[in-house]
Amino acid sequence: MNRNRGSLDAAAQPASSPAIPGFRLRSSMVAVVALALAACSSEPAAPAANSSAVTSIELPAETASLPDSPAGNLLTQRCTACHSPDFLTRQPPLTAEKWKATVVKMREAYHAPIAPAEDDAIVAALLTLQAGAR
Ligand code: HEC
Repeated sequence: MNRNRGSLDAAAQPASSPAIPGFRLRSSMVAVVALALAACSSEPAAPAANSSAVTSIELPAETASLPDSPAGNLLTQRCTACHSPDFLTRQPPLTAEKWKATVVKMREAYHAPIAPAEDDAIVAALLTLQAGAR
């Protein structure tokens, strides 16, 4: 018992080597405090650097387009305010009735600026493009 207490007392001496647990604990705490201070002091500069970098992103150019034809131009005017040309040309083949229902839905549900008098011309244009014609 006495020998154990003696060795504990020796470990608490400041002049001991760095291998002693008490010394290691204190030096690692100093390191943690130093890291925390470093993080605090560098924090305000980071958001300013990031916000100036975000102002210069470039989006890829839109390359798809509908054919330059009466059918293609009508759909460009009436549909591409909200949809990409790809979205329109990659739809599954629909019947005239289903296209008509879609066009009516665009107007009534999503307020697409399409007059009812144009519906048949738009349906014909959609069928024309889906048949692979212009
Ligand atoms: C004012 C905006 C707007 C316009 C103009 C518009 N659409 Fe849409 N369209 C929408 C919205 C919103 C949806 C739903 C998108 C979703 O569900 O993710 C949609 C969905 C669709 C769909 C997917 C199927 C469905 O019924 O939801 C098709 C096909 C479609 N539109 C075709 C057309 C065609 C053809 C035209 C031109 C005649 C057109 N749209 C014009 C807004 C528009």
